Parts: sequence; structure tokens; C-alpha cells
Amino acid sequence: MNHLTPGLGHYTNLDELRPAVEQCHQCRLRDTAHGVVFGEGNPAARIVFIGEGPGAEEDRLLRPFVGRAGRLLDQMLAAMGLDRERNAYILNIVKCRPPGNRTPAEDERSACLPNLDAQLRILAPAIVVLLGSTAVQTLVDPAARITKVRGQWVQQGARWMMPTYHPAALLRNPGWKRDAWDDLKRIIDKYRELVDPAHYSPHYP
Ligand code: URA
Repeated sequence: MNHLTPGLGHYTNLDELRPAVEQCHQCRLRDTAHGVVFGEGNPAARIVFIGEGPGAEEDRLLRPFVGRAGRLLDQMLAAMGLDRERNAYILNIVKCRPPGNRTPAEDERSACLPNLDAQLRILAPAIVVLLGSTAVQTLVDPAARITKVRGQWVQQGARWMMPTYHPAALLRNPGWKRDAWDDLKRIIDKYRELVDPAHYSPHYP
């Protein structure tokens, strides 16, 4: 992975980082995308959700997870007692839409990694939820299979990471929702342990 892109290491807050990321032209995805989808949420959130990359609706509105999969993600967050305005932050592995929603290539993911690294360094979340194969393969293990690694904690320094199914995969395979909810309950347990013992979750009191 390319950690050599200079210049993002010194930013100390997301408002300052945003214009630098929005000017990124480190890979070909920027040529076909309408714009850069930086991510959104509460910068003080202790939990971050990372998807794959913007789809058509995200590229149009320049906001993450605002299409069909995004609506399911919002429902998953709500079931956990989270929402993107109040106590969560939403990011993607690549910030520009891959044409036709194809999976971002290895060199595209590598090119975008300094953007994500800078965001995560500033956010310093206690918990990172990896939504789907692309996120887990980019940040944990290039050979990981989501069906095998979902639901298992990966600790990197002070950061606890949990791979689970991408909401788009849950829309295609509704039978996986039961396993996904098991994963989300484990994430709520960890959130209560690390962040807020009194955290209220409507479906997991
Ligand atoms: N899928 C993703 O991985 N990210 C988005 O922002 C939208 C759909």
C-alpha cells in the first residue's frame, strides 16, 4: 500500500483536511467521478463505519451512504442507538465512485489510503466497523473472506475493528441479516465497554 503521498500527515482537524482530500487526483477514479465524497458524521464520534466507495447517488450528492444501501445502514445504526449526526462517522475506502460501481482496484485503494489514514488519525475512533470485503481486505488482510472473518475483533493498537457484512450484501442476501445483527450486538457490547457504559440501543437494551 502507498503511504508515500506527502502532505496529509500534519492536519489536525477534519475541516482543514477536507479541502486537501477534495483536491486529490492520485488515481483515475477522479477522472470519471463527479466529485470526492469525503465522508460525514460527528467528528467527535468514537465509532466509525467504513464502506467500499461511493455509488451513483453518493456521487451525485457527494455524501456517503445515501442510496439504498445507505438507508439500510441508517436503520442498522438506529437499531444500535447510533446516528451519523450524533455519534457516528461514515467513511469509504475510496472517495471517488468507481465507474459502474465496480470494486475499486488495488492501486486505486492504495492511492486513496493516505486520505483514509489521515481521517482515521484525526478521528482516532475506539471502534471501526469494516463494512464488507473491500474494507477488511484493504485494512486487515488482502486474503480475508468476509463470510469467514465477520464477527471477529481485530485489534490494531488502541483501535478495535469488526468486519461485518456490507449493507448492499444484506440487500442481496437477506438471510445474512441474522448474523449481521449478532455482529452489531457485539459492537454495542464493545461500545459500552470502551465508550459509554450507559449507551442505549433500542433493540439491545
Ligand atoms: N456503498 C459504499 O460502500 N459506500 C457508499 O458510500 C455507498 C454505497
